[in-house]
Amino acid sequence: MLIYAHRGGREHTPENTMAAFNNALVCRADGIEIDVHLTKDGQPVICHDYKIDRTSNGSGLIKDFTLTQLKQFDFGGWFAPHFTGQKIVALEEYLIWQTNTSLRLNIEIKNGPLLYQAIEKKVIQLVEAYRISDRVIISSFYHPSLLKIKELNPTIKTGVLFEGRPIYPCQLVIDAKADFLHPYWQSLDKDWAACAHSWEIGINTYTVNHTDEFEFVRNLGVDAIITDCPGKFISNSIPPLPKPHPLLP
Ligand code: G3P
Ligand code: CA
Repeated sequence: MLIYAHRGGREHTPENTMAAFNNALVCRADGIEIDVHLTKDGQPVICHDYKIDRTSNGSGLIKDFTLTQLKQFDFGGWFAPHFTGQKIVALEEYLIWQTNTSLRLNIEIKNGPLLYQAIEKKVIQLVEAYRISDRVIISSFYHPSLLKIKELNPTIKTGVLFEGRPIYPCQLVIDAKADFLHPYWQSLDKDWAACAHSWEIGINTYTVNHTDEFEFVRNLGVDAIITDCPGKFISNSIPPLPKPHPLLP
């Protein structure tokens, strides 16, 4: 089962920043999940919300700032003072960094409540330019974006994000011509998980942060989890217990 760091991992680091991405690499996560919006000058940038208010010292909509303007804001100090100086990360900057790693990548296209014109094309152009098509999954709650991705490049894997319990979860994959189901972990049950696997549809579930949740989804045979705390679930990142001292009973 693969471990993806949700928004780069947000338990110990400010989400969607280089500090988080470097931490995920150190934790030996298999992959990183990021959220992408478009700036005023059409640059894909990494941020969860369509506003910068929660995760920076600025205020306003991403779509109303150019990338240069967004770089003026601090995206780390809100989390802890020693992260002050973290900047918003353009998708291209991220891809340059990832090129030197073996990390997988899950790009979530954030379409809604604002719809970004041609965001799918801009993301695909970068994925192709940096030659990471074979280790990327593009996901979205806005399923028309997934159809668009397949129109632009049918070889790129896509994942259908959802919460709740559709009558036929696998139908979501068929309708979007997708490859994976990306359910909220509480939306999983063994019946439809088994059905998905019998149809060779992979399941990558979010956001699994606690041991009991981890055991639940592992027993259902999911293919990957997306977690805020990758280090917690990667056993080889946990230092082994020290050997007992030979003089102790
Ligand atoms: O991709 C899984 C998860 O990130 C979806 O929810 O709101 O954290 O982007 P959210
Ligand atoms: Ca996300």
